[in-house]
Amino acid sequence: MTLVIDGLSKSYGHVVALDQVGFRVEPGDIFGFLGANGAGKTTTMRIVLDILRADSGTVTWRGRPNIDLPRRTFGYLPEERGLYPRMRILDQLVFFAGLYGVPAGQARRDAVGWLERFRVTDLADRRADELSKGNQQKIQFIAAILHDPEVVLMDEPFTGLDPVNVALLRSAFLELAARGKTLIFSSHQMEMVEALAGAIAIIDRGRLVTSGPTGEVRRRAGRPIVRLAVEADPELAWVSSLPGVRLIRPGPHVSELTVEPGTDPQSILRAALARGGVVTCFEIADASLEDVFIELVGRSAGDGSPAGARAAVESAA
Ligand SMILES: Nc1ncnc2c1ncn2[C@@H]1O[C@H](COP(=O)(O)OP(=O)(O)OP(=O)(O)O)[C@@H](O)[C@H]1O
Ligand SMILES: [Mg+2]
Repeated sequence: MTLVIDGLSKSYGHVVALDQVGFRVEPGDIFGFLGANGAGKTTTMRIVLDILRADSGTVTWRGRPNIDLPRRTFGYLPEERGLYPRMRILDQLVFFAGLYGVPAGQARRDAVGWLERFRVTDLADRRADELSKGNQQKIQFIAAILHDPEVVLMDEPFTGLDPVNVALLRSAFLELAARGKTLIFSSHQMEMVEALAGAIAIIDRGRLVTSGPTGEVRRRAGRPIVRLAVEADPELAWVSSLPGVRLIRPGPHVSELTVEPGTDPQSILRAALARGGVVTCFEIADASLEDVFIELVGRSAGDGSPAGARAAVESAA
């Protein structure tokens, strides 16, 4: 019943795009697929869709190899723009659904329903090249799902959407998942993945780094975050001298610290109180997905250290 990606390898000449990548996606999951630029996300998706063949490895859905499944099993929102520039929006939605065997009348009704839902009925008769980037993105989403696929693969579907449209797309995700659809999406927006994806996989330079339920990955891969504020001591200069404690985000009000494995976060609170400070905030939270990502993948960015990677990520943000 599961989408099983097993041992995928793919090279382009000397470039190893994928090296033995494998993970599972459960039906009805909203699954986040993460990795730095060039990590191999798009390549993996295209292999699942059988647009591209792997050098080795297999993809099965409900126990059947993807290459034997009807095309309409999958839907795809590609990373690059895939609309015909001059064709009218409603016409091309009907056309794309027709490629998967959806009768025109039904495709038209469903397409109009989705256009209404995304508040873009006025775009039905416009040409694709007249649309803004975000509106093209919404049309591509509709094109990906109009034939009612079981598994939808979306390559950075949230890119270019304003907050209102992000919310509309999120609610569409939730509804499709509730109807039993399996959604796989790549994203560089960690908060989005954290909020939406029940399970994730992270790849780095063609290799799987980790996969599993999002909460589990955060607990397993990340170090807990301690949020601390002490009255009249915004600098918290003393925390770095505590063994196994690191100040990662000094804040004007609340600062964020991490602790090495084996260090009890409570030791920070005890130290603060022992210094006679008035603790106004003390909180222990699971690592954010951003922290996990930087911890696991960051060594390929910045100066090679997690701290350098964090600096590289934060200066890029
Ligand atoms: N057609 C191609 N020819 C040669 N190399 C390719 C080709 N397509 C991808 N690659 C290489 O394969 C690797 C994986 O690329 P891929 O597009 O899958 O990464 P990605 O994770 O989708 O990155 P991004 O986040 O930038 O979209 C990269 O090193 C890329 O340069
Ligand atoms: Mg890509």
